[in-house]
Amino acid sequence: MTQPKHIAIIMDGNGRWAKKRFLPRFVGHQKGLRAVKKVVSHCAEIGVESLTLFAFSTENWKRPKDEVSKLMGLFLSALQNEVSKLHKNNVRLNIIGDRTLFTDEIQQHILQAEHLTENNSGLQLNIAANYGGRWDVVQAVKDWSNKNPDKPITELTEADISMNVCLAEQSEPDLLIRTGGEQRISNFLVWQMAYAEFYFSDELWPDFDENSIDKAIASFSNRERRFGKTSEQVTHDSH
Ligand code: IPE
Ligand code: IPE
Ligand code: MG
Repeated sequence: MTQPKHIAIIMDGNGRWAKKRFLPRFVGHQKGLRAVKKVVSHCAEIGVESLTLFAFSTENWKRPKDEVSKLMGLFLSALQNEVSKLHKNNVRLNIIGDRTLFTDEIQQHILQAEHLTENNSGLQLNIAANYGGRWDVVQAVKDWSNKNPDKPITELTEADISMNVCLAEQSEPDLLIRTGGEQRISNFLVWQMAYAEFYFSDELWPDFDENSIDKAIASFSNRERRFGKTSEQVTHDSH
């Protein structure tokens, strides 16, 4: 069975999970963190190389102030309480997104966590926080331009952008999972997912577990990835 090297997940449905139980939305986010832990350990165990989780989008600042501040609190407490366990499990942690909008305290913890785990050789775990796919493409172009002050923009290539977007040093996501029943990208890794296989699940994120991941991977392994070629070419090439 071909297993994806890189899985990206839009973790959606925390609010609805809570609402169904007449609980505040925040409880859904707390339970969501529990699902994150399960999925991270499982992916590490089965040998996935990279796992990228969408935790907070550039658009999520538009939510009610109280929800945003509780999400920031949860992010901080996860950085304080979970990083040493990740480190023990040989996980390498990387936070992607524009971190300048986070408090100094969160930014400090992010730097410490990345530094602590940078030489780990197990699962590469990327958390997308204040991340937007459009922001990413724009920062990639700016980065390229800063590195190449003498080159005119007409020389910019796809490869230049690919080399400067977030996660450039990792393989592109093979499988995108979105929970919660919606079938959209919501400004996630728009550049990097040009050829990802999409898998949509009606499960709400707090209910997602090891078995759910296995189902998504089983679906992935039945897909034929053609990358623009014909089916015959692909079958022939793989022999
Ligand atoms: C996803 O769950 C988590 C974040 C966006 C932070 P939601 O909070 O979007 O849950 P629903 O979509 O309202 O159920
Ligand atoms: C996408 O979920 C962002 C995250 C999971 C962090 P949203 O719930 O914000 O997406 P929309 O608004 O339904 O598209
Ligand atoms: Mg949602």
